[in-house]
Amino acid sequence: MPPGDASDADLHKSDTQVQGSKAFGAGELTFGSPEISDGPQLWDLASAAGNLDVNSRYHYLLWCRDFADTSVVARAADGRIAGFLTGYRRPSAPDTFFTWQVAVSPDFRRRGLARRMLDHLVDSLRPQGVRFVEATVTPDNKASIRLFESFAEANGADLALDVLFSERELGSGHESEVLHRIGPLAGR
Ligand SMILES: CC(C)(COP(=O)(O)OP(=O)(O)OC[C@H]1O[C@@H](n2cnc3c(N)ncnc32)[C@H](O)[C@@H]1OP(=O)(O)O)[C@@H](O)C(=O)NCCC(=O)NCCS
Repeated sequence: MPPGDASDADLHKSDTQVQGSKAFGAGELTFGSPEISDGPQLWDLASAAGNLDVNSRYHYLLWCRDFADTSVVARAADGRIAGFLTGYRRPSAPDTFFTWQVAVSPDFRRRGLARRMLDHLVDSLRPQGVRFVEATVTPDNKASIRLFESFAEANGADLALDVLFSERELGSGHESEVLHRIGPLAGR
């Protein structure tokens, strides 16, 4: 468990305070569901993050309205969003949580924040029957690949890889998107 990690009990609160002084060097971070008013900050962070397909502002606003329960933001004491992870349960396979986008502000990277957001969200969804985590990653995104490997290892779960969308399908010189499927996860 990384320094300053929240206890299991804390993970199940809707807004979880995470001691950040050791882990993040920037005071406390609070984990919670995004609100519509967070949409513009999510768009800003996605635009600045690199490696992400940036969608319209409208898209982030809508996500904060309709997929807040399956998304998390990590908020610093000054209101700034240090990171977010957005996802949804697949309508045709509700035991599967699909990670749509994850981004951490450069100031907060490599301190375990993305892993902890993923842990937080998946732990909140296990009681609802989520047993698999999926994400697509481009082959050059080492940080993201390691994030999902690390999550699979910590959970003792299998990690299967398969191309979901090819370069031809994505077009415009976009690299292929490789599906990372992790599970089954223990129910807890
Ligand atoms: C990918 C991203 C969200 C990771 O956030 P983060 O908070 O720095 O990640 P964490 O600190 O939780 O690290 C998770 C794991 O990845 C590893 N990792 C993180 N950044 C890495 C890098 N640049 N190179 C190699 N490994 C890296 C960590 O060491 C850790 O592995 P460990 O558990 O074995 O120690 C962040 O780099 C980012 O926002 N990138 C731009 C947007 C993006 O690419 N999103 C993903 C698209 S699918």
